[in-house]
Amino acid sequence: MSNSKKKNLIVFASGTGTNFLAILQEIQNNNINGRISLLISSKPEAKALDKARQYNIPTAVLQEKKFSCHSEYARTMMDLLKKHQTDYILLAGYLKMIPADIVETYRNKIINIHPALLPKFGGKGMYGIHVHEAVLQAGETETGVTIHFIDEKYDNGPVIMQQKIQVIGSESPEELQQKVLKIEYQLYPHVVKLLCEDKIKIKNNKVIIT
Ligand code: GRF
Repeated sequence: MSNSKKKNLIVFASGTGTNFLAILQEIQNNNINGRISLLISSKPEAKALDKARQYNIPTAVLQEKKFSCHSEYARTMMDLLKKHQTDYILLAGYLKMIPADIVETYRNKIINIHPALLPKFGGKGMYGIHVHEAVLQAGETETGVTIHFIDEKYDNGPVIMQQKIQVIGSESPEELQQKVLKIEYQLYPHVVKLLCEDKIKIKNNKVIIT
């Protein structure tokens, strides 16, 4: 592992947080040169928050509706990111749009995992089981996982890595989801490891992995 300073990682999660846990496990196994400084959730009932608390990782819940306006919400998020000297933001099942000024300030520092082969089956409404239902409905013969830097649009931005799996066609959406999640738990920690070793660069909007 690299001898350079550990990267400060902030995880954003609105759901069960199993990807968060997969990354945390690899940090605890000393395979990732980083630490998770904070987990931010958009939902107070997110299971991801319980998981973080269980591992003594600081948490914050940011619900836009609890703020008087969008800019106050965005400023609170920005203050938290600055306070933790954030190197990378890892979206792991985060269901809200990241405020535009945060996308701008942290350009090429925010990554997302999506349970399909983007640009297919991405965008608004394409989350959770809906993605796998749509893949089966379309009769796709393959699906997979995409990890990408985000930009101002949903499920958009330069792709860092994709991994494909075969769709048999007879599986249920839930079975497909489980198969895809298994890949996610390998791929996300792998990409985070490379990021924390400064092995992922971006030039002219193209990702270069060294
Ligand atoms: C994953 O399928 C991920 O690809 C997507 O949201 C889901 C999050 O699952 N962005 P979990 O909260 O990590 O269990």
